[in-house]
Formats: sequence, structure tokens, C-alpha cells
Amino acid sequence: MRTKLLVGFWMVFVVGIIFLSPSDCMAQTFDHDFVGVSKCSLCHKKADIGQQVIIWQGTAHAKAFETLGTPKAKELGAKLGVDNPQTSGKCLKCHSTAYGFTENKVTEKVPVQEGVSCESCHGPGKDYMRKSVMQDKQEAIANGLIMPDEKTCVKCHNSESPAMTKPFDFKQEWDKIKHPIPKSN
Ligand code: HEC
Ligand code: HEC
Ligand code: HEC
Ligand code: HEC
Repeated sequence: MRTKLLVGFWMVFVVGIIFLSPSDCMAQTFDHDFVGVSKCSLCHKKADIGQQVIIWQGTAHAKAFETLGTPKAKELGAKLGVDNPQTSGKCLKCHSTAYGFTENKVTEKVPVQEGVSCESCHGPGKDYMRKSVMQDKQEAIANGLIMPDEKTCVKCHNSESPAMTKPFDFKQEWDKIKHPIPKSN
């Protein structure tokens, strides 16, 4: 009797996992909503906080979508059977925040044109971007803020990139895009 019950329990459990996990996984990947650079810009454009948005605008990440429109991108795409890189999830998964590391768009809040923006590295910002939350680092982290490290970078900087020419060196590459809050702040 007990064994039958247990078997029954496990069957429900296993069937449950099979049917529920795809949507559960999606939900787990992004527990918070995206907002786009324009929202971070309200505060992170100012000099006293370190104008992170302006620094980012000067990096390759801000042009990652534009890059997919170049002849070089067409050429790399053709080898992989991709006709138009600017509309293919196979490229946008790493060249835009809106695709959230997947081959499909995960949010309408971030224009694909923003390329690789704040929330690819720091996590979707809807719940941590409020001033009262942002001022308290632990509170911000509890609301979805990620303080990224090398593991975040190699989600995209890996051998799946058809343009990769040399191994990713975190220290060297971080130095090119760093955007600190001034010490005096
Ligand atoms: C309402 C203003 C405001 C908005 C909007 C805002 N931030 Fe902030 N952010 C702050 C302030 C203030 C700090 C704390 C600065 C300090 O420690 O001096 C901060 C700190 C941070 C930090 C560093 C955390 C720490 O304490 O070391 C990160 C990362 C960050 N913000 C990312 C973002 C991102 C990404 C967005 C957009 C999704 C965003 N912020 C939107 C005001 C804002
Ligand atoms: C969502 C994917 C993604 C993540 C996460 C990511 N990158 Fe990138 N990165 C790219 C893409 C795509 C390019 C190429 C953009 C272009 O040339 O248009 C790039 C380019 C760069 C470049 C310019 C390289 C050059 O030689 O021009 C640097 C530097 C860089 N990334 C550093 C980093 C660092 C450091 C991290 C982690 C803190 C990181 N990236 C995380 C996708 C990503
Ligand atoms: C796994 C993540 C990833 C995927 C998928 C990806 N890229 Fe990239 N792409 C990158 C990164 C990271 C860079 C920066 C160069 C590097 O790899 O170090 C980059 C750079 C580029 C560049 C600039 C190269 C240069 O020399 O300036 C082009 C063009 C490009 N990618 C085209 C594409 C095309 C087209 C696709 C789809 C067929 C694609 N990428 C798919 C991550 C990716
Ligand atoms: C390619 C990944 C990447 C992107 C894109 C990115 N950041 Fe960061 N950011 C980092 C990393 C890595 C750190 C350092 C984390 C640490 O110190 O632990 C950081 C640190 C910060 C800090 C804290 C600086 C300090 O001195 O404590 C702020 C504020 C910040 N980012 C805001 C932003 C904003 C706003 C954007 C968009 C305009 C943005 N970041 C885009 C990777 C990124």
C-alpha cells in the first residue's frame, strides 16, 4: 500500500517536472523586469556618480547591434546560414540585451538597438532602480542587482562567437570598459 502511494507520488512528481520546468526555467532566469538604458540614465549620466551611461556609449557594447549590419557580419552570418544577422536570434543572443542570452526576444522594454547594455551584466533593473533601493547595495542585490565578474562576461565572450580571435582575458578587457563611481562620492 505504502509503496503504491510512493510510486504514485513519484509519478505525479516526475510528470510535474516534465510539464512545468520550461516555464519555470524562464521565470527563474529573469525574476525581474527589464527597463532599458534610458531609466539608468536618469541617474547614471551625471558626473558626480561617474557617468556610467556616457562611458558605456563609447564602448563596443553600445554598437553591438549596429555591428550586425556590417559586411563583416553578413560574411560571418552566411557561413552559419544566417541571412540577416540583425534579425537572427543566433546573433542577437549575444549582441543585444533584449534577447537575454537566448535566441528569442525576452522583453519589449529594451530596444534591440541598445545592443549590450547595463542589464545584460547587472540584471533586469525594474525592482532595484528605485533611489531608496539603489542607495543600499545589499537591498539592491536582494532586488536583482548583479555585481558582475568574469563569469558574466564569458556568457558571451566564448568560442561560440564566430568573431572570436583570441582567448578572453578578463583583466585586460575589463580595463577597457570600466566605469567606477568616483571615490569622493
Ligand atoms: C534614481 C536614481 C538611480 C537609477 C534610476 C539607477 N541608479 Fe544605480 N545607483 C544610484 C545610486 C545613488 C547609487 C549609489 C552610488 C554610491 O554608492 O555612491 C547607485 C549604484 C549602482 C550600482 C553600484 C552598486 C553599489 O552600491 O556598489 C550599480 C551597479 C548600479 N547602480 C546600476 C544601475 C543600473 C544598471 C540601473 C538601471 C537599470 C540603475 N543603476 C538605475 C542611483 C540610481
Ligand atoms: C550579452 C553578451 C555580452 C556580455 C555579457 C559581455 N560582452 Fe563584451 N562584447 C559583446 C559583444 C557582442 C561584443 C562585440 C561588439 C561589437 O564589436 O559590436 C563585445 C565586445 C567587448 C569589448 C570590445 C572588444 C574589442 O576588442 O573591441 C570589450 C573590451 C568587452 N566586450 C568586454 C567585456 C567584459 C569585461 C565583460 C564582462 C564584465 C563583457 N564584455 C560582457 C558581448 C558581451
Ligand atoms: C556567444 C556569443 C556570440 C554570438 C552567438 C555571436 N557573437 Fe558576434 N561577437 C561576440 C563577441 C563577444 C564579440 C567581440 C569579439 C570577440 O569574440 O572577442 C563579437 C564580435 C562580432 C563582430 C565584430 C568583429 C570585428 O572584428 O570587429 C561581428 C561582425 C560579429 N560579432 C558578428 C556576429 C554574427 C553575424 C553572429 C551571428 C551569426 C554573431 N556575431 C554571433 C559574441 C557573439
Ligand atoms: C559588459 C558588462 C557591463 C555592462 C554592459 C555594464 N556594467 Fe556596470 N559593471 C560591470 C562590472 C564587471 C562592474 C564591477 C563590479 C564590481 O566591482 O564588483 C560594474 C560596476 C558598475 C558600477 C559600480 C562602480 C563602482 O565603482 O562601484 C556601477 C554604478 C555600474 N556598473 C553601472 C552601470 C550602468 C549604469 C551601466 C549601463 C550604462 C553598466 N554599468 C553597464 C559590468 C558592466
